[in-house]
Amino acid sequence: MPRRVKRNIRVGVVGVGRGMRMGTGAAVGLEVVALCDTWEERLTVAGEQLGVETYTDYDRFLEHDLDAVILANYFHQHAPFAIKALAAGKHVMSETAACSTLGEGVALARAVEKSGLIYMFAENYPYSAYNQEMRRLYRKGVVGEFKYGEGEYVHPDPPEVKLGRSCGRDHWRNWIPATYYCTHSIAPVMHITGTRPVKVNGFVVPFDFEDPTMTHSMKRSDTSCVIICRMDNGAVMKAIHGSLRGHGNYVRIHGNKGLMENCRHGDRHRLKVWRELWEKKKGEPVETVYTPDFPVHHDQASRAGHSGGDFFTTYHFAEAIRTGEPPDLDVYTGVEMSIAGIQAWRSALDDSSPYEIPDFRKESVRRKYAKDDWSPDPDRKRKGQPPSSILGRIKPSPEALALSKKVWAERGYFGK
Ligand SMILES: NC(=O)c1ccc[n+]([C@@H]2O[C@H](COP(=O)([O-])OP(=O)(O)OC[C@H]3O[C@@H](n4cnc5c(N)ncnc54)[C@H](O)[C@@H]3O)[C@@H](O)[C@H]2O)c1
Repeated sequence: MPRRVKRNIRVGVVGVGRGMRMGTGAAVGLEVVALCDTWEERLTVAGEQLGVETYTDYDRFLEHDLDAVILANYFHQHAPFAIKALAAGKHVMSETAACSTLGEGVALARAVEKSGLIYMFAENYPYSAYNQEMRRLYRKGVVGEFKYGEGEYVHPDPPEVKLGRSCGRDHWRNWIPATYYCTHSIAPVMHITGTRPVKVNGFVVPFDFEDPTMTHSMKRSDTSCVIICRMDNGAVMKAIHGSLRGHGNYVRIHGNKGLMENCRHGDRHRLKVWRELWEKKKGEPVETVYTPDFPVHHDQASRAGHSGGDFFTTYHFAEAIRTGEPPDLDVYTGVEMSIAGIQAWRSALDDSSPYEIPDFRKESVRRKYAKDDWSPDPDRKRKGQPPSSILGRIKPSPEALALSKKVWAERGYFGK
């Protein structure tokens, strides 16, 4: 039986990078009471900052009196950490990705079902004000039935910034294929329209040897990717993400009665709704542009990170624990958003052929994938595993080796 909590929900956070900006939910009844990280120096500073107990050992951390665990450890290690926390009786909110192989996705779905506890996927981009407003309008039928959508998360950075975020040659940011970090671009369209991808075709923009942001960092995967998704209602979605120039987020929803999108210039939090002249109601404008409010807690959300998204993931996690009702971003949704990137990588390496996104709500479907551990993770090295780049195995340049040594030392990292 799910543990219903009436007092403050006692939360432990794993990972003191991104994790320090999560669970900041005193207003929604969350209280961070413990931290866990293997990087001791950073952990000590973080523990003092919050005045909470700290652990370097995850098993010992799980023995702390906690109702819930927030996972902000490495991108590719969330599923095993989530499964352990659920087995220890803790509700889980997990950063992206939910799983790093299809086999892990199966194990995670089964573990959540067995536990009866809350699992929430902490995908924050669906919760910006314009994305929440598009969901509201879509549900009201303002643009009709979803036909075509786009989601973009473009995030270039100079090499020093990239290196500062990825200490260690085998840090996940250096080897995950270009298609893997896909949830920020795919999730808003899925959440607004309530559709799920059933097939993907993956395309990559290859590693650019003329671009110093690639050659002077330790990244050995490609510049960017495009994922074309066929949705369960027959609609098509194009998602792009990666380090192309032109930083920003963008979401576009075409229905069979209208279009909505966030603006691409000026204030990008403005929403545009478009209705064709012959279909709109009399007196209604063809184009409406406005800056929507958040549906609830506008003041707090406006101050939170990632355009308010960081407030709403915590808010919905707390609500789910209090009510015992699974959140919208439940384990199945989190897993399918995450494995879209894995299947898109299979596709990209196979001349962009279509690959299915299996529905792990069904045990009959899960069985086929339970042992699938296909991954370029250096810790899973064996024959048959894929490379990180479409160009094969990319070696770091002398400039990247020299700059990484300098940047990592400044960050207090002296490993390989
Ligand atoms: N949703 C967003 O907007 C957003 C933004 C940034 C990062 N993220 C996600 O947050 C996660 C963390 O990213 P990050 O930017 O903080 O960088 P990161 O992945 O380098 O940080 C992970 C932290 O976890 C710690 N860690 C690793 N293994 C551990 C273990 N076995 N036990 C305890 N601690 C361990 C590391 O020491 C590090 O401090 C990633 O999954 C990333 O995808 C999400």
